[in-house]
Amino acid sequence: MDGVRERTGLRKVESRASITEADDLDLSRLLQRPRLKLERKRSFDERSLSDHAAAGSLRPVDSYESMLSLGAMRSVLDTPTSSAHNSFEPHPMVAEAWDALRRSIVLFRGHPVGTIAAYDHASEEVLNYDQVFVRDFVPSALAFLMNGEPDIVKNFLLKTLQLQGWEKKIDRFMLGEGVMPASFKVSHDPIRKTDNLTADFGESAIGRVAPVDSGFWWIILLRAYTKSTGDSTLAESPECQRGMRLILALCLSEGFDTFPTLLCADGCSMIDRRMGIYGYPIEIQALFFMALRCALSMLRQDAEGKEFIARIVKRLHALSYHIRSYFWIDFQQLNDIYRYKTEEYSHTAVNKFNVIPDSIPDWIFDFMPARGGYFIGNVSPARMDFRWFALGNCVAILSSLATPEQSVAIMDLLEERWDQLLGEMPLKIAYPALESREWQIVTGCDPKNTRWSYHNGGSWPVLLWLFTAACIKTGRPQIARRAIDLAENRLSKDGWPEYYDGKLGRYIGKQARKFQTWSIAGYLVAKMMLEDPSHLGMISLEEDKAMKPPIKRSASWTI
Ligand code: GLC
Repeated sequence: MDGVRERTGLRKVESRASITEADDLDLSRLLQRPRLKLERKRSFDERSLSDHAAAGSLRPVDSYESMLSLGAMRSVLDTPTSSAHNSFEPHPMVAEAWDALRRSIVLFRGHPVGTIAAYDHASEEVLNYDQVFVRDFVPSALAFLMNGEPDIVKNFLLKTLQLQGWEKKIDRFMLGEGVMPASFKVSHDPIRKTDNLTADFGESAIGRVAPVDSGFWWIILLRAYTKSTGDSTLAESPECQRGMRLILALCLSEGFDTFPTLLCADGCSMIDRRMGIYGYPIEIQALFFMALRCALSMLRQDAEGKEFIARIVKRLHALSYHIRSYFWIDFQQLNDIYRYKTEEYSHTAVNKFNVIPDSIPDWIFDFMPARGGYFIGNVSPARMDFRWFALGNCVAILSSLATPEQSVAIMDLLEERWDQLLGEMPLKIAYPALESREWQIVTGCDPKNTRWSYHNGGSWPVLLWLFTAACIKTGRPQIARRAIDLAENRLSKDGWPEYYDGKLGRYIGKQARKFQTWSIAGYLVAKMMLEDPSHLGMISLEEDKAMKPPIKRSASWTI
């Protein structure tokens, strides 16, 4: 086994006495002792909303029970963790991926601080792929944490925290204090023998949009680090507490909003070009929700912390209600919208946002299975963007923004619409693609985002880790296995591309970088989670029963 570890670059991770002890998501323990109702001390991230509202009043948590009742147990026991192939003979791609991941490490003054976006020697145009992107580093960080190498993650968290403190200007306009960069670059001056840092807060990005997701990923990663190492001193340090508060101050500020969701410009997240996701994109809303819950678990109960905790609790209540009710679509809901009356006024309105049924796109009537559902891309006045976005839906499952029933329905949809949403290379970033006139209007004739390419219906291997995590959480590891098998057929042979093109994702993307780090790290994280599902606890949050969903009928729920 040690020989295998050497070959694959894997280290043995000692189990740590840490906050993970009380982790309700320790699936390996679940495997050993199914159905045992354990008295558990809850870790700090399981404080519920009601706990915060009525400080100190603890109530029992029965999160295993909720998973068990959803049939998760049956599937968890089917997990291929037990297969000899997985445990003892790692796929040759694993060692190759570790080598590639290590090659992408960026040093600053001798210390590893991140991984570059792509290490593509063949590509003439480097563009900004030689930078460390905050969002791209997340799967790298998880891979390192799962492999017992937390230092690079800690360095990254501290380095980006410093960058957050920089003064940021676009033309003459000053950005908010808490904005985290989209990326940073380390350049080496060979004469002076010094390393210099430059950061991009959106002032160099295409479209000049600040990344709203970076700050959320930073908070989510801080929790993953804390959870994995058991070292809460970093999260509790005054610098990290302040960093969190600055991010939160930006997104919890009061304004003209009538919705609890966060209003965003196009291109402010992984989809960083114009793609018609402006408004209230599900990717950002799900990350917002998850970051709020992670922050809630890490903020100290001092005077400043308490103020933010109170604001977070209020926001989470409203946010979960809004998204679970208005972003959710399934067969029943679609039929209801199809029959909506319009021009309703006042509090009795059923069609609150005055969505005109004629605006429902044709494709969705065939696409919607009898079983299954998902959170749509965007909801705002008279506008529902019915497109499927993978990241937002997976994060909704991981953060428990989706109720257990909604999580089941999302997984049902993925299984029912495998060809469209996973195809030959997992996973479609968005479905369906915008074509013809719609592509012209919505993307502004973007030649990189032509139909079934890049962000416009392209397939992104990085999403495999999120999908795998969602599969494990919902008790369907076997479908993650199926997706990983698909990736193993091609990824290495094709040189770890950034994305694939085509309806089924069969073609290496037209402008895809090779040796794209998050494609490599995403694969590794997916593999490690399947092997040891207890890793899931790093990036998953249990349902908080204090956030009661407005129950709606769903074809998936009634079975
Ligand atoms: C592209 C992607 C973005 C990613 C970056 C670096 O701009 O759209 O999501 O972070 O490349 O890989």
